[in-house]
Amino acid sequence: MTGEIDWGKLSFTYIKTDYNVRCYYRDGKWGELEISSSESINLHMAATCLHYGQEAFEGLKAFKGKDGKVRIFRMADNAKRMQDTADGILMQRVPDEIFLNACIKAVQLNSRFVPPYESGAALYIRPLLIGSGPKVGVSPADEYLFMVFVTPVGPYFKEGFKCTNLMITRQHDRAAPNGTGPYKVGGNYAASLGSGKIAKEKGYSAVLYLDSREKKYIDECGPANFFGIKNNTYITPESKSILPSITNKSLLQLAQDMGMKTERRQVPLEELETFEEVGACGTAAVISPIGRIDDLDTGKQYLISKNGEPGPTCVKLYNKLRAIQYGDEPDAHGWTTIVSE
Ligand code: PLP
Ligand code: COI
Repeated sequence: MTGEIDWGKLSFTYIKTDYNVRCYYRDGKWGELEISSSESINLHMAATCLHYGQEAFEGLKAFKGKDGKVRIFRMADNAKRMQDTADGILMQRVPDEIFLNACIKAVQLNSRFVPPYESGAALYIRPLLIGSGPKVGVSPADEYLFMVFVTPVGPYFKEGFKCTNLMITRQHDRAAPNGTGPYKVGGNYAASLGSGKIAKEKGYSAVLYLDSREKKYIDECGPANFFGIKNNTYITPESKSILPSITNKSLLQLAQDMGMKTERRQVPLEELETFEEVGACGTAAVISPIGRIDDLDTGKQYLISKNGEPGPTCVKLYNKLRAIQYGDEPDAHGWTTIVSE
């Protein structure tokens, strides 16, 4: 069946794999990991995930190296972030051991779906935590379901590692200043669907959101974090309403390793025109270099890449990150976990 998959042409869509892994929290404790080959779940109609948004997910990737080994990238960081999200919306935390074992099992059980090294594709791992217990009053569930499925993916933005364009609008917010922006909850993505649709219809790959209080600072970049490069410095927004991206944290480290300065601070919109390079970064987006950003409210255009090509720093960061993920270069920071020989 995997013979039908054209690994080099994969986009970011769901492809059925063989197994997923599940674990239930009931009667005050987590149960054993269960393996399932069903794509469905049996859910109470009053489950809190359906009514009150008790839903969190994660996204990470496994990569097959030239050496044939499969590596998962920074999964302990995703486990921690899912725990922070669980705390944020009063769900039961998934213990590290269950999270890590479930991810490893899901990859191992579906090893025939890990794309080959040459394809440049990866196996996307999607952990999911939902309130499964029934409630009618607004309150947290007593029961939870944690599950992990995997699916082979190519680039999130169709351009891959080519310049892509963004739009700015003040008509939509993704998250409120003291809301759920830093948590990976489904509601944030629901809030972004309308503006995301407008962006796609107008030919942009994503919306560059401004801070929702003052609309003065750069915030989140669709399903990715924002970074700008100038004067040998990697600059990324400090904000209470963006997801703490593990890719961004990795790029900050790699930029420092390359001798660059790094800054995490508020980034005023006007600063856009001073950047030599701009990128969106995330597990799905990897690094997506940005060519142009159009402010639809003011009509102003920010032309970042004069020749439509990714800039030299984006290229260096992209190559370095991918080399670590695929095992082409030493993993100096201990970011990868080998899950098969
Ligand atoms: N921001 C949002 C809203 C996201 O959905 C993601 C994807 O997970 C990111 C940023 C990037 O985070 P990470 O690098 O941990 O995948
Ligand atoms: C990711 O990069 O893992 C994401 O979650 C982005 C998107 C698919 C929601």
